[in-house]
Amino acid sequence: MDIVSIKTQIESEIQNANTPQVLEELRIKYLGRKGIIAQLTGSIPTLALEERGRFGQEVNALKNKVSALIEEKQRTMGAAPKEKAAISCDIGMPGIAQELGHLHPITQTIDEICTIFNRMGFSVVEGPEVETEFNNFTGLNIPLDHPSRDAFDTFYLKGYNKLLLRSHTSPVQIRAMKSRKPPLAIVVPGRVYRPDAVDASHLFMFHQIEGFMVDENITFANLKGVLEVFAKAVFGQDIKMRFRPHFFPFTEPSAEVDISCIICKGKGCSVCGRKGWLEILGSGMIHPNVFKNVGYDPKNYTGFAFGMGIERIAMLKYGINDIRLFFENDLRFLKQF
Ligand code: PHE
Repeated sequence: MDIVSIKTQIESEIQNANTPQVLEELRIKYLGRKGIIAQLTGSIPTLALEERGRFGQEVNALKNKVSALIEEKQRTMGAAPKEKAAISCDIGMPGIAQELGHLHPITQTIDEICTIFNRMGFSVVEGPEVETEFNNFTGLNIPLDHPSRDAFDTFYLKGYNKLLLRSHTSPVQIRAMKSRKPPLAIVVPGRVYRPDAVDASHLFMFHQIEGFMVDENITFANLKGVLEVFAKAVFGQDIKMRFRPHFFPFTEPSAEVDISCIICKGKGCSVCGRKGWLEILGSGMIHPNVFKNVGYDPKNYTGFAFGMGIERIAMLKYGINDIRLFFENDLRFLKQF
């Protein structure tokens, strides 16, 4: 059928439509997804190449003509044209609010801990995650062939002789002491790396905060006082602490620090393994060899140092039982902080 006669037929049908329903049926018959015009468009590929352009233009013109006729007729019948109806909206309706993000719970915990030490006069210093073997081990009195190295299993950088991903934040002790003179009171937050198999309490990357103070006559009592202020600020005023003898190559004497279990208050539960105590950090008096390695005279200076895992602190504080939750970026988890 040729376009001219189709057009004539359509025009007279529209002319004769006498209700909005009939008109709507016609609109679908011509302009619908399976309507006459769609069929004509669909037949274009069956035409000879030189026919296609002209035919396409005619179909297009027909389509515009029919749309205009139907709209015109809708108006005279008093029915609102389709698109016009869709545009109407309630301008008094509130807009769609943008959701605000917030700091990651680990960042929040780092900020909180740094603020506590800041108030006690500590400044915040950072160091690189790629370290030298000297800063990570040798300078800290960890001889490379000594069994104590096993406690600090480490990622080495392929193709670089003595570079590694730091396995603790303690190398920043070496950096800071080499570039400054006592008195020093410094905290160091940052990422550390260890080749551990991933489970609910281990990742190959986590965060630590290191703290140290060096001056004339710094004592273990200063260490206890500073850590007590810290623990009470984070976990509450009624928390108890205990210092357990331990070994670290870079401190002597060394101690691990426990707090009374924040879940059972010391009675013994599944979180503290029925012990009533939770280990939160390692600490001690800086070893004289470490002072020698940075050019300080151990006869003139003493100091304390401590280091803690930030994920562990956050997990205890918020009652989180799986360290992996911090890095899955599931908003249902993150939004709770
Ligand atoms: N660097 C130790 C660790 O990662 C923690 C520590 C820091 C212990 C400072 C004593 C003094 O386990």
